[in-house]
Amino acid sequence: MDQLIINGGNALHGRVEVSGAKNAALGIIAAALLADGISTIENVPCVNDVRVLIESIQDLGVKVEYLDQHTIKIDSTKVDKLVVDYEHINKIRASYYLLGALLGRFNHSEVAMPGGCNIGQRPIDQHIKGFEALGATVDLEHGMVKVTANKLIGTNIYLDVVSVGATINIMMAACMAEGVTHIENPAKEPHIVDVANYLNSMGADIKGAGTDLIKIHGVKGMHGSEYTIIPDQIEAGTYMIAAAITGGDVTVGNLIPKHMEAISAKMQEMGVVITEELDTLRVTAKHPLKGINVKTLPYPGFPTDMQPQMTALLSIAEGTGVITESIFENRFSYVDELSRMGVNIKVEGNTAIVTGVTELEGAKVSATDLRAGAALVLAGLFANGETIVNHVDYIDRGYEFIENKLKALGADIVRKTDNMDKSMFKVV
Ligand code: EPZ
Repeated sequence: MDQLIINGGNALHGRVEVSGAKNAALGIIAAALLADGISTIENVPCVNDVRVLIESIQDLGVKVEYLDQHTIKIDSTKVDKLVVDYEHINKIRASYYLLGALLGRFNHSEVAMPGGCNIGQRPIDQHIKGFEALGATVDLEHGMVKVTANKLIGTNIYLDVVSVGATINIMMAACMAEGVTHIENPAKEPHIVDVANYLNSMGADIKGAGTDLIKIHGVKGMHGSEYTIIPDQIEAGTYMIAAAITGGDVTVGNLIPKHMEAISAKMQEMGVVITEELDTLRVTAKHPLKGINVKTLPYPGFPTDMQPQMTALLSIAEGTGVITESIFENRFSYVDELSRMGVNIKVEGNTAIVTGVTELEGAKVSATDLRAGAALVLAGLFANGETIVNHVDYIDRGYEFIENKLKALGADIVRKTDNMDKSMFKVV
């Protein structure tokens, strides 16, 4: 289990480039299976979630080749298996995208039920609602979700809950359904639009992704294509907060400013200065910043995946800030870890009341999920002394080379790789 060791206090300066969007990449890699052909996907982030999903599709017989560190060639001409075992979904929830992709192409798929996780119960009832509306039967047995259809027929589907996963899964299942499918009340995140654009490049006919109504005209077949993934909105936002929490001056490059609007607006409300250029945002901050109120909402609102990082920033701002988490029911578990560094946060249900402090103390802390881990790193960049962040594997799921990118901005951060496990199994 790797650790990140941070000595805080350095104001970050310089330029950091944003990598490809993890949550777009996961949907796109699954969507590639809709084509009986070859796709080349560029700007794929080097993160563990992507690596694990690629292993899952290879297990189905799909050929995947890395053309370079960020480019993969996916040949899904042949798919031998339509069953995704528990070991894959247990490693990554996004394997459930294979439900929609395999159903959309083969009228059948079986994927192990994704469990909840430490940010919430995370049901998939809306995914199932969409599949059944398209004419599939869904059986939940022995921990597996089995989806089968004689024929998928387009229909109108209203999502009771705005769900990124359900929107992407239903979009994929509907691509080759007979007739027209309307998805009402869909998620509108940038990665939804990216997956829809990729599907259209494969011959799908999807209109309205990113709006309140997605219209899908079923097509007869889909082919491989070449596609470049958008930059990661959440990684970009995380580095913007790294600049602000250290009182630095950082240019975050290779991003789409439009995707960052809610994050930029809330940081500017705190007193952070953000200058927009074509595909960069320059972030400078002079402490003290001002405590504000933030509520997480589906896009274009403030992203839930930025909630822990924003809480870390509020914890050292002047005055009181209030963060309301409206997407997940249990996304403040990291606050206990942050409290070990001296933050003053009171969690009441889905609200955290943050009283800003002027100092944090480095401490040993553990990441409880991907974004919580990022928040602990951010707090460590500000804290006096040494912070050791355990369970860096969570962070590696969604952040590419985080310590290298932060070090290049002037952070005092190193990764301590725990070789213990390997040595324990060394053959003597
Ligand atoms: C995606 O998860 C992201 N994961 C999450 O990012 C992100 O936090 C989330 O969207 C919200 O933006 C990937 O894209 C791989 P949802 P997803 O379905 O699709 C409820 C990260 O850090 N819901 O939009 O699972 C659900 O319980 C991860 O990168 C139902 O009730 O999220 C939640 O309260 C963490 N029934 C809300 O909707 C359903 O059928 C939003 O969930 C589906 C969801």
